[in-house]
Amino acid sequence: MAKILVTGGCGYIGSHTIVDLIENGYDVVSIDDNSRSSEGILNGIEAITGKSVKNYKVDLCNYDETMAVFQENTDIVGIIHFAAYKAVGESVHFPLMYFENNLFSLINLLKCTQDFEVPYFVFSSSCTVYGTPQIIPVTEATATQPAESPYGATKQMGEQIIQDAARVGNTRYILLRYFNPVGAHPSISIGEMPLGRPANLVPAITQTAVGKIDKLTVFGSDYDTRDGSCMRDFIHVSDIAHAHTLAVEFLASKPEGPKLDTFNLGSGNGVTVFEAIKAFEKVSGQPLNYEVGERRTGDVEAIYADNKKAVEELGWQVRYNLDDMMRTAWAWEQKLLHQGALFDSQNSKLN
Ligand code: UD1
Repeated sequence: MAKILVTGGCGYIGSHTIVDLIENGYDVVSIDDNSRSSEGILNGIEAITGKSVKNYKVDLCNYDETMAVFQENTDIVGIIHFAAYKAVGESVHFPLMYFENNLFSLINLLKCTQDFEVPYFVFSSSCTVYGTPQIIPVTEATATQPAESPYGATKQMGEQIIQDAARVGNTRYILLRYFNPVGAHPSISIGEMPLGRPANLVPAITQTAVGKIDKLTVFGSDYDTRDGSCMRDFIHVSDIAHAHTLAVEFLASKPEGPKLDTFNLGSGNGVTVFEAIKAFEKVSGQPLNYEVGERRTGDVEAIYADNKKAVEELGWQVRYNLDDMMRTAWAWEQKLLHQGALFDSQNSKLN
């Protein structure tokens, strides 16, 4: 069984990708310092796959500790690098923390990749690298624009660092540019666990619906789109996850392929914020409490993916539609609420 190292394996996309890798016959180890994730998610992975995944609680910014994981696992054939800070607003307030964390960790990991001659490396990039595109949908060839935030800059710089690293050694690299990953694994054993008040739309919708948030604010309704709200490309997290397995298989099946390749991972459909809310109301059967507020600084008016390259070259298929995304996100939120209630009642018993 080929062994894949997943960094950020306890995170949202990382955990779903581990499930997909195991289901496709891979052996997986994880590095996650759990500074922004919970190791408990590994129980969810085990519930789905029947496999217990080893997680090294290591900060990738610590080179020696990172290297020790490679020394212990000399049979790693591929690395999928998710671990990073990803809150856009936070990155504006703490830019150096973002550059330090996201870039030092990447550089350490790339040094290990080259020192241990790991054949494949897959990097979590983002559609944020396109900035505000002039033409949509965007293809991988669409020119990138200046980043809207330090977080976005770390993704652009990360891509640049990998491009230069790829000129040395035999490792081959894939950059995956995610659009808006949402939803939860169809088993509802794993899902997104945002820290604090969620900045992203779908967890903000579901938290509003369960009453954790009083009212959702739609950031702007005066955009030049079909209903005035921003347009995004929502894609189910399990579809994103499977693309990573396909990326590793693609690298393994094309030994003479390019040293570096890039793929968009989006559904190819532009969906507005109001349409997303309507889809949620339909699947949950309940109206959502929301109001229209000011535009959010840094928001892009409209973006969605041309995903032809991933479909044709990776053999990727989008299996879940918007209703599926909302249904699974909603079921997961209700499960979290139920678990919270259980926790509270246990605590009150203890008290
Ligand atoms: C953002 C980042 C993107 C990052 C992604 C994952 C920017 C420009 N992009 O995507 O790089 O990879 O997060 O964390 O910041 N919205 C509301 N009300 C809310 C929350 C969101 O109306 O309470 C709207 C936003 O204005 C936006 C859409 O919903 O139009 C999607 O927002 P969000 O889920 O935060 O994702 P992005 O901003 O697209």
